[in-house]
Amino acid sequence: RQAKRAALPLAGKKVVVTAGGTIERIDPVRYITNDSSGKMGFAVAKAAQELGADVTLIVARTQVDPPVQINAVHVESAVEMYEAVSARWRETDILVKAAAVADYRPKSPAQHKIKKSGDELQLELVKNIDILQTLGEQKTTQFLIGFAAETDHLEQYAKDKLKRKNCDLLVANDVTQTGAGFGTDTNIVNIYDAAGLVQSLPMITKEEAGLRIMELAAERLAGAGK
Ligand code: CTP
Ligand code: CA
Repeated sequence: RQAKRAALPLAGKKVVVTAGGTIERIDPVRYITNDSSGKMGFAVAKAAQELGADVTLIVARTQVDPPVQINAVHVESAVEMYEAVSARWRETDILVKAAAVADYRPKSPAQHKIKKSGDELQLELVKNIDILQTLGEQKTTQFLIGFAAETDHLEQYAKDKLKRKNCDLLVANDVTQTGAGFGTDTNIVNIYDAAGLVQSLPMITKEEAGLRIMELAAERLAGAGK
């Protein structure tokens, strides 16, 4: 008789999680960023590790420190995040894009601190690469999880993004709801797949939400025979 240890559902899987908000430089001392705290991405990364995965965190600017037990790669901008994610893409089993990536960056960041002069200053912005969409178009065996933080039309935007970015799951939350969104320790998320709403989770901690998301991903991967 052999005592069988139940294998962890993500054992042997490589999971890449992006977290935080990217920083887009204006000059050496100034930048554009957003309110992402990093907490949701960190919770997902911890959950994936608990489920047995080999996890890499790609971390932009965050308001809390990444979990010490997880291998973290620090980046600033959307371009740097894209490079870090694509460098690992071929070996990635699950990519979780919890990061808030700046949609635009200053067109020509100044090499020196910009000096104050006239009453108005025009800052020209250019569009950043959409990391998730670009990789979604190239996906072969990878399982892609996108995130969407919205203030309105949650379901419509979530479904649009899931399709446009070729995601397997999309986790959406309404940031106007109390207990959901930026900086909080809790979240209220709806999870969608190509067929529609899969799970509507109540207000729970981001840690719990992270676990529910990664358990679902593990089930889906196993179901697909991967
Ligand atoms: N995302 C990305 N690269 C970008 C922008 C977004 O990989 N340049 C990813 C995010 O990490 C997230 C998902 O795409 O997982 C949705 O991000 P969101 O900002 O909600 O989508 P956008 O397509 O930028 O649409 P919006 O106009 O609502 O900002
Ligand atoms: Ca965006």
